[in-house]
Amino acid sequence: MIKLAPDQQTGKLSFITLGIESSCDETGIGLYHSEKGLIGHQLFSQVAIHAEYGGVVPELASRDHIQRVVPLIKAVLKEVELTLSDISGIAYTAGPGLAGALLVGSAVAKSLAWSLNIPSLGVHHMEGHLLAPLLEQQRPSFPFVALLVSGGHTLLIDVKAIGVYEILGESLDDAVGEAFDKTAKILGLGYPGGPALAKLAQQGNQQAFTFPRPMIDRPGLDFSFSGLKTFARNTFAKYPNQQADIAKAFEVAATSTLMIKCKRALQQTNRKTLVVAGGVSANVSLRQTLDAMGVSLGVDVFYPRQEFCTDNGAMIALAGHFRLSKGQVTATAEIGIRPRWCLEDLEAV
Ligand code: KG4
Ligand code: ZN
Repeated sequence: MIKLAPDQQTGKLSFITLGIESSCDETGIGLYHSEKGLIGHQLFSQVAIHAEYGGVVPELASRDHIQRVVPLIKAVLKEVELTLSDISGIAYTAGPGLAGALLVGSAVAKSLAWSLNIPSLGVHHMEGHLLAPLLEQQRPSFPFVALLVSGGHTLLIDVKAIGVYEILGESLDDAVGEAFDKTAKILGLGYPGGPALAKLAQQGNQQAFTFPRPMIDRPGLDFSFSGLKTFARNTFAKYPNQQADIAKAFEVAATSTLMIKCKRALQQTNRKTLVVAGGVSANVSLRQTLDAMGVSLGVDVFYPRQEFCTDNGAMIALAGHFRLSKGQVTATAEIGIRPRWCLEDLEAV
């Protein structure tokens, strides 16, 4: 069933994976070539659509994915001078995410795969984030500890190999990206809040306020970020003119809590490599804090490039490539979405 085509330039047999991301508010398309790596990708962000509501409106997200996904696939293929018939397999985000939004990617992937008579595979969105640093020239090697920080998840994982994941810790309440977004909202910043809060924090005075580092005095690797948001709300009510200082205090508390738990996870597992991915890994202050920790522990720290920290199609094409090229497929007749899906339930590759 796997279609290997001779490369136009080298003549070598190659496998080209089309990746489709539509789990939330970004339509992303990527093309991954087995010999050349990532050959094309494009993204349409729905930020402008959701901004006036102060957050993602699921129904609007699904409707927009429907409009964007096919033109984006065409645009990426055109950019790299390929056609649909050059694609060997299609990977789409099957979950976790918004059900309606996931259904769009799944339906398009499955009908396209059926019409082209090629395999399709539902990919775990967080595995896409986790593997995104492998799109870079300097790639981490297995095994490693991964810190995944997005709008929906905060996870510390022992990554033994692709698909062999042990969750070491996770957030018991708000994900760290969600805490950034909610705190930004409290401070009157727009949506999406994380980048806006990070920008404002640059002007803040770090000495002005000290927020707690939640759960660091307890053993274990779980997180809790909802208290930080409450702390920010109470401080803002008392000091309404010190927005930037509050943003700074929040960012410092969130990033140092993540760093303390990463350090603990690295010491516990004895791993020498840390991978940090997901939307919040774009945060410059977090990167500086983790880089400094890496130097002091003798641990190499890897991130995706900035544009692949947040949702994108390239990471789905990559994750799909590893699995599809080994023959893993999702049956065509299956709807194939999993809005709730635990990383530990994935198959090894
Ligand atoms: O991975 P992602 O694009 O989507 C999910 O899978 O959730 O992550 C989005 C999250 C949002 O909460 C957003 O505010 C946060 O990542 N984010 C940031 C930054 N850039 C994006 N948070 C802090 N600092 C940033 N620079
Ligand atoms: Zn994501």
